Amino acid sequence: MYFLPEDLDNYVVAHSEQEPELLQQLTRETYQKILQPIMLSGPYQGRVLSMISKLIRPKSILELGTFTGYSTLCLAEGLAPNGELHTIDINEELVDFQRKYFDKSDYGEQIIQHTGSALDIIPKLDQTFDLVFIDADKPNYSNYFHLIIDKLKKGGIILSDNVLWHGKVVEPLNDKDKSTKAVLEYNTLLKNDKRIETVLLPIRDGLTISRKK
Ligand SMILES: C[S@@+](CC[C@H](N)C(=O)[O-])C[C@H]1O[C@@H](n2cnc3c(N)ncnc32)[C@H](O)[C@@H]1O
Repeated sequence: MYFLPEDLDNYVVAHSEQEPELLQQLTRETYQKILQPIMLSGPYQGRVLSMISKLIRPKSILELGTFTGYSTLCLAEGLAPNGELHTIDINEELVDFQRKYFDKSDYGEQIIQHTGSALDIIPKLDQTFDLVFIDADKPNYSNYFHLIIDKLKKGGIILSDNVLWHGKVVEPLNDKDKSTKAVLEYNTLLKNDKRIETVLLPIRDGLTISRKK
């Protein structure tokens, strides 16, 4: 879905960085072999994630929702030398696909895969993070925030994806629609939590940047 008129959206993309060849390959293979390829971050948001990560130069990144590794590789582009990126996904069938592309990249040794529910794995990570990207199941976004906030360094950044949820955040709420309800609650949580400052960017499906004070 386009939040900008399509011609303006095309102009924005045409005047931004192009995605690297490896990510084009990853996208092609995801569309050939994996269900729901629409979950990929895509070229424009990927370049946004890469740029934000390069501005931060994180020593430690945590990603929730690896899928086929597209956003993982974008975020890894900004890693400090010897930095590491922990990425979690519940779908064990994706592990080999992800590893193949991580090892083709310059960041294979810096990327640590975790398989299982992020709710179980985050509490076991005994370290702090400079940058966290939340892009897993929407109903747990608020739970993820509560689990990571104490693991986020002062000045650290949380990026939250799909916070406009295809525009449903401004439509009448259907009581059975758990994901929209969860995204609405999550957006309110980010806006009101005094430990962070937050800006919601209307990029693609909505990307919020929250900085820990
Ligand atoms: C939108 S996709 C991630 C897309 C990826 N970040 C990208 O930009 O290419 C969401 C992923 O979250 C994973 N996921 C869903 N529930 C999860 C959970 N409880 N813990 C960890 N991962 C989960 C799914 O298996 C799926 O691969």
